[in-house]
Amino acid sequence: MEFVKIGDVKKHAGKTIDLRGWIHRTRASKGIVFMVIRDSTGIVQCVVKDKVPGFEKAEETGMEASVSVKGKVRKDDRAPGGYEIEASKFEVIGTADAFPIREFQSPELLLDYRHLWVRSQKLTKIFKIRSDVIGLIHEFFRGRKFYEMQSPILTQIACEGGSTLFKLDYFGEKAFLAQSWQLHAEAMIPVLEDIYCIAPSFRAEKSRTRKHLAEYWHAGAEAAWMDHEGSMKLQEDLVSYVVQGILKRRREELLELGRDVKKLEHIKPPFPRVTYEKAIEMLKKDGIRRKCGDDLGVPEEKALSKHFKKPFFIEKWPLHSKAFYMKESKDGKTVLCDDLFMPEGYGELIGGSERETDLKILEKRMKEFGIKEKDKKNYQFYLDIRKYGSVPHSGFGMGVERLVMWICGIDHIRDTIAFPRVMNRINP
Ligand code: 4AD
Ligand code: MG
Repeated sequence: MEFVKIGDVKKHAGKTIDLRGWIHRTRASKGIVFMVIRDSTGIVQCVVKDKVPGFEKAEETGMEASVSVKGKVRKDDRAPGGYEIEASKFEVIGTADAFPIREFQSPELLLDYRHLWVRSQKLTKIFKIRSDVIGLIHEFFRGRKFYEMQSPILTQIACEGGSTLFKLDYFGEKAFLAQSWQLHAEAMIPVLEDIYCIAPSFRAEKSRTRKHLAEYWHAGAEAAWMDHEGSMKLQEDLVSYVVQGILKRRREELLELGRDVKKLEHIKPPFPRVTYEKAIEMLKKDGIRRKCGDDLGVPEEKALSKHFKKPFFIEKWPLHSKAFYMKESKDGKTVLCDDLFMPEGYGELIGGSERETDLKILEKRMKEFGIKEKDKKNYQFYLDIRKYGSVPHSGFGMGVERLVMWICGIDHIRDTIAFPRVMNRINP
């Protein structure tokens, strides 16, 4: 038997089809059951009358049971999706206990039942967009002839400082979950030159915010011969490509999520660029006083984003405000790095930089950044790269969930990933 996907029902008007899915909602009244069935492609209403084989089952079967229906497709403007199924047969595939989620539940309960809440219409739309965002990132890099390269998740090095490392026991030795693919990626520059990766990264963030996960998907790129300018160009091209691709493929889902798509339509290169120094001045004018070297937190991101309608770069941060691997500028006071911030106050999306290639400077900076003498052996491979045919190179990392969050216009990062890992939750 061939089953029609609900999204294709309209192509079969007037015909009898078989479909299967899950009960989204059901309502019975005097010898007739109105049942809305969903599958991954949509929802459709089925009308099951009392003479139909399986009617008793239709009357008593609850939300989220899996079912199959045979019936005639009828155009009906009042029905969701504009079509209705007049059932001639109804069958239950998998029964359902009383569904524990009702309307207006607390976010905590929805997280306890995440394995069931993922079925909601809202999350389904977001997960489709997420799937396409990841597809578009692959498309973008492969279109530019980047190779996909994976790096280890189990490491003994801290790419982004010690405070957010997840520690684990590796056959009796101390090890961590990778914060970033970057340091190993740099070792692959002389092999493949232009590389990218989409992989999980781990941060033991001890803060509960709307944009931090303990496990997130990190899209990274690293390219030989690419300088800081070239890196920013690549970043704005990537973000624009993904946003425009989603507008083309998932406009309907965006609109159903209530997203104002006008705020996305103009996302095309170039993106505005300001130096860190200028950003501090802009903040001062807005009444927010920050001294040079301070990180930019949520209030600063919000204030700055009021000045821009597109994502905007804040580049050339003070020497010791960022990571040890960033290349020093000629001025000796800043590093050749950028953070790309999203508009509408969504915050940081990308962190990138040109990489330091001078072995002496790199060793000095590692010391200044507090990498201990006893741990230095774990970074030896990274230093070695500078000894054997080092070339100028740059790279960046983008948080996939942050990008999905902004594109969808939702207010918490947890809804961009099926099973979010945050400080107080590792289950389900
Ligand atoms: O700015 P970050 O820490 O930079 C790096 O890891 C570099 N090694 C990247 C590189 O140059 N290859 O992280 C990059 C991005 C951030 O801009 C943010 O979007 C995302 O990763 N990110 C997080 N997303 C969700 N939850 C967290 N806890 C995140 N921490 C970083
Ligand atoms: Mg960063």
